[in-house]
Amino acid sequence: MKKMLTGLQPTGVITLGNYIGSIKQMVENQNKYDSYLFVADMHAITIAQDKDELRSNIRSLIALYLACGIDPQKNKIYIQSENEYHTNISWILECNTYFGELSRMTQFKDKSLKNVNFSSGLLTYPVLMAADIIAYDAHYVPVGIDQKQHVELARDIAERFNKKYGETFVVPAPLISDNGTKIMDLVDPTKKMSKSSENKKGTILLLDDLNITRKKIMGATTDSGAEIKFDEENKPGISNLINIYVSLTDKSIKEVEIMFKNKKYSEFKTAVADVVVETITKIQSSYNKLLNSKEIDSILDDGREYTKKIAKAKFELMKEKVGLGRGE
Ligand code: AMP
Ligand code: TRP
Repeated sequence: MKKMLTGLQPTGVITLGNYIGSIKQMVENQNKYDSYLFVADMHAITIAQDKDELRSNIRSLIALYLACGIDPQKNKIYIQSENEYHTNISWILECNTYFGELSRMTQFKDKSLKNVNFSSGLLTYPVLMAADIIAYDAHYVPVGIDQKQHVELARDIAERFNKKYGETFVVPAPLISDNGTKIMDLVDPTKKMSKSSENKKGTILLLDDLNITRKKIMGATTDSGAEIKFDEENKPGISNLINIYVSLTDKSIKEVEIMFKNKKYSEFKTAVADVVVETITKIQSSYNKLLNSKEIDSILDDGREYTKKIAKAKFELMKEKVGLGRGE
């Protein structure tokens, strides 16, 4: 069975964008692949974090994974920092990755421009991500479009290592769904919906109050004109709402355009609000039951033990290939 793997950073409550771009795909594919899902807490500290908040976000994210329908029987669920082999592997990979490649990554360029004193971890972040992926020989990595470049770099790193040292890693590929790969901000639909947006009205958090959620959707920026038509260039607001609707109902864009032909924007927004509220109501009720349960700890213990064995074996193989340590 082929492997599928992804991780999310525990930085704040996850958004509807994260859910649609990443978690939902994991849920939909969990029967098809041997699945790995983790919390990327080591990635989170590339930017300063409050210690208590980070801790609570880690647990909250695990509870959210489960509440979103991730089945612990079908997925290995674990915390990145509980498995030290990721960083061990990452170091060897760093020594086989060029500074130029890393400095050309779009996310690095964006984030480093925002801070004068950025950490070197921000630069090497994609190598740790490559380690997370190739340590398990993952074939597919479900991510939103913004992470595609990092998965492609992981491919390059794996291919280069294989060429230099002999077959060691499966070369991974990003898994990007057709719809909703990028959910946009509700207030400014030319920007990605993001946890870190300044205007909170533009972002739907999975743990938001339901009334607030509804208001955010009803207040979403729409475009001039009156037609419910998918046209990302000229109608970014409506197209974003169509993307959200399509992703949560599994209808096609065409079907949605037909359903809402000659309907008002407000009627369409109500329909979008209904499906979003329905989705997050279910998630929240299950989240509240799970958050403080012992079940989470036993799932994480199992995940840590299982994944440590795999990553350790890969690290030992890499050491052998590179000539580190004393050998067998
Ligand atoms: P982040 O919140 O940036 O750590 O992203 C976690 C995962 O969610 C990654 O796979 C992203 O590509 C995906 N993601 C984040 N924001 C969005 C969005 N607005 N639309 C679709 N996918 C997203
Ligand atoms: N960098 C990813 C993000 O911010 C999170 C991540 C870390 C990840 N390691 C990964 C995603 C490995 C997929 C595979 O969204």
